[in-house]
Formats: sequence, C-alpha cells, structure tokens
Amino acid sequence: MQNGSTPEPPQIPPEDHVFVDNVKKSFGPTVVLKGITMHLRRNETAVIIGGSGAGKTTLLRILIGLEKPTSGHVWVDGEDMGAMNERQLNRFRQRFGMVFQYAALLDSLTIYENVAFPLREHRKHMSEKEIRDKVVGMLNLLGLENKEERMPSELSGGQRKRVGLARALMLEPKILIYDEPTSGLDPQTSRMVDDLIEETRDRFGVTSVVISHDMASTFRIAHQAFLVIQGQVVASGKPDELAYGDNEVAREFIAASGVAPERLSRVDKQPEPGEAAVRYHAAGSTGASGNAS
Ligand SMILES: Nc1ncnc2c1ncn2[C@@H]1O[C@H](COP(=O)(O)OP(=O)(O)OP(=O)(O)O)[C@@H](O)[C@H]1O
Ligand SMILES: [Mg+2]
Repeated sequence: MQNGSTPEPPQIPPEDHVFVDNVKKSFGPTVVLKGITMHLRRNETAVIIGGSGAGKTTLLRILIGLEKPTSGHVWVDGEDMGAMNERQLNRFRQRFGMVFQYAALLDSLTIYENVAFPLREHRKHMSEKEIRDKVVGMLNLLGLENKEERMPSELSGGQRKRVGLARALMLEPKILIYDEPTSGLDPQTSRMVDDLIEETRDRFGVTSVVISHDMASTFRIAHQAFLVIQGQVVASGKPDELAYGDNEVAREFIAASGVAPERLSRVDKQPEPGEAAVRYHAAGSTGASGNAS
C-alpha cells in the first residue's frame, strides 16, 4: 500500500470531523499537493478557495476516497481512509454526499428518478413505497412540490441545484461536499444557494465542505476558509481574518476578487426559542426573497 502501514492515530481534536494530515499527491513527476493539513470541524462550513489549477479538485477527490494520497492521511471520524480496502471504502463513502457543479442530473430521467437513484443503487431492501415517501418528502422539504414528473430541462438553475442536493441527501450523509455550487448562477440565485447550504447544515447537522471561486459566497457561509495556492494551504481562518490579517497573500487574493468584505461578514442566525432554525423556500421561489428567476 502506498501509505505504508497504518500509523498510530494522531491526537485529533474531538471537534474535528475530518482531519487532512499532511497530504501530498503527485501524478508522475508533477507534484500537485505539497503537504495539505486541514481541520474540518463538525457541523461547520469550510470553504476551499484558490486559483485555477491549485489542486482543489484533486484534494476533493482524495477527501472522498476516489484517489489515494501519495503520502499523508485523511482521518474521518477518527478513522484512516487510507487503511481501508475497496469494500470498506465503498461503504465509508456513503458518509459523503456530493453536490456537483451544474447539479449533474441525468437528463433522460425524471426528477423523481434522479433523486431515487442512490436509493435504488444502495438501499436494495427499500420498497417502492418507502422510496417514494423519502423522495417526495425531501423534494417537498426543499420547496420542490409537484415537480416529481418533470424533466431536468424543465427546471431553473436554482431548482436543479436543489434537486442535486435532494439526491445527495438520500443516503443521509454526514459530510456534504459542494463543488463550485454558485458558479454560473446569477447573484440572487447564488444567494439562495448559500442560504440552502446553511439551512441544510442546520437541518441535517452535516459538515459542509465547499469549493468556491465566489468570494461573496465564501464570506456569507464560511466558518473557516482555506486558501490553496500551488498545492499548499497558504492561509486559513475566518474570511475576515484572511481579509484583514497579517497574511499578505490572503489579503491580496481577496482584494483581487473585488468584493467589499466589510459588507459581507458571516452572520450567524440564532433562532428564537420555538422558532424553526430552518426556513426552506416555498415551491416555485428560487430567490432568497422569492423573486429570482
Ligand atoms: N490525473 C491527473 N494526472 C496528471 N495531472 C493531473 C491529474 N489531475 C490533476 N492534475 C494536475 O494537477 C493540477 C491541479 O489540478 P486540479 O484539477 O486539482 O486543480 P483545481 O484547483 O481544481 O483547478 P480549477 O479551479 O481550474 O478547477 C493541474 O495542474 C492538473 O493538470
Ligand atoms: Mg477544479
């Protein structure tokens, strides 16, 4: 095995859901990741930002076990993914849900069949009624009432994103990974997707990992941001700390994006006692204020 024998587990802080431990990755002579270390805390949102070709997608593939690191480890719930065989890894991967860029729905299947797909693959014991209840329940929860028999092409970009999220939630993952969730969306729909990411984190108690080029979105949702440049984490912390801290590279990266961070700082919404923490959008509305296309 590439990683050698399983080491003694390091001291992992209990709040760490995922601990990326000095991960390096090369493809032949090309060194893509040069020793990435990240602590991703339970039930928080971590956003990975960085330039094109920095290694973000490679890191993501290692995180979900699609690719093995050349060296280093990924610990999830204190378990070393590198020490698992293919069968163990296949089971373990169900802890992750992926929301792909552009939702990646199957165009020839109805919304219902798209969302039911993971259950048909991985929950062979479920009856059609159980599947229907789960799929329709989730679609309703995400504000997609009566859309089951539609085709993906009949929905708006924001609605498709919600279908992708519904599908990702079917196997009840504990870690949700979003690959550039707001790319290609207008600002209002992007804001809606940000709300959706946060509401989903609240509602399902998941840990969110977001790869993003969208600095405005990063400021709205990140508890922690990681700036990856040329295969290294060059800065990490709250977006505010990156924007105003001592790290010049981080300050410049954020300044170059053109957002005004003082207007964007993350606001944690504390629900009033008795008030639901989650407010999904009603059917038909795709914007936070219900007026986006
Ligand atoms: N399977 C592979 N074989 C060889 N090189 C690879 C492979 N996968 C990725 N790379 C190289 O690794 C580097 C990082 O790629 P990666 O896709 O992780 O970047 P990224 O940060 O996701 O970029 P982007 O923001 O453009 O999506 C690139 O130079 C790429 O060519
Ligand atoms: Mg990429």
